[in-house]
Amino acid sequence: MFTTEKCYQDDYSSGDVVQRYNSATLDGIVQMITQLICEHGELEGKDLECLLDVACGDGEKTRLLSRHFKRAIGLDASAEQIAQAVRRTNSAHVEFRCSTAEKLPLADHRVDVITSIFGLHYFDVKAFIPECRRVLKEDGIAIFYAHRPSKIIASDNDALPVIDADVAAMNEKLCNRARELSHPGVNLSDLHWSQFQEIDYKHKERIETTMIVETTLGGWGNHFLSIPGNKRLCINPTDNPVTELLQSVKRKWLKEDVDSNTIKIKMVNRAAIIKLRK
Ligand SMILES: C[S@@+](CC[C@H](N)C(=O)[O-])C[C@H]1O[C@@H](n2cnc3c(N)ncnc32)[C@H](O)[C@@H]1O
Repeated sequence: MFTTEKCYQDDYSSGDVVQRYNSATLDGIVQMITQLICEHGELEGKDLECLLDVACGDGEKTRLLSRHFKRAIGLDASAEQIAQAVRRTNSAHVEFRCSTAEKLPLADHRVDVITSIFGLHYFDVKAFIPECRRVLKEDGIAIFYAHRPSKIIASDNDALPVIDADVAAMNEKLCNRARELSHPGVNLSDLHWSQFQEIDYKHKERIETTMIVETTLGGWGNHFLSIPGNKRLCINPTDNPVTELLQSVKRKWLKEDVDSNTIKIKMVNRAAIIKLRK
């Protein structure tokens, strides 16, 4: 049986793993979070002093978000990810520390904004949320971001009809597999979702968003498999839901010999954000 701790230790021990899955969605996510911060009434017109980005991975998003703050701190439980973040950062106002979300290494009421992007599903939420309350300033907010299953739609021609049903079937298969393994750390939305629902907080607000990313069918498959939790669920090459999906799409809609890297698609990334405040 996997434990959350074992899961992230295995998955994030290679420094560039976050970089690999990040490329398609980085700008869109940073923009959305920046907008939420700017629109948060209590912070309007104030100098934003401190950002805390929990489970920051290689720190790319921490660096981009840090532009709006005097100081930013990225935390991650993986020493390899923190080493990567430090290597890639050259700004005096951004620092990185190796630490877990469940025990934040900060004094009380110091932080204006806490972010955690694709992190919450790894945490013990019951320990993490009280820690957020403790370190946030009175008017601060916390923003947690997670993907829901993506939809795939045809690109600008009609050659490829909507294959969303196939994607949904694949997701379901992976979710069932994850449950069989009692595996908490997979990037599948309904498992993320149960974590979100566990948050019992007075002013919880849920925001749904979408982002459209243009890619190819093969590119989508690679992107999906670059997400560590997903990759681990597709262990068996003869029973791999992603390969199955790509083949079934080809069988249904295209000739077998078409290279999936030439098939243009659009990926509609649905995301959910939980905003907490005091
Ligand atoms: C999917 S990555 C997200 C990285 C980054 N936020 C991003 O969006 O690119 C998840 C990160 O959570 C970290 N992590 C897992 N469990 C953690 C915990 N309990 N406390 C802090 N970090 C944790 C992993 O080491 C990994 O870097």
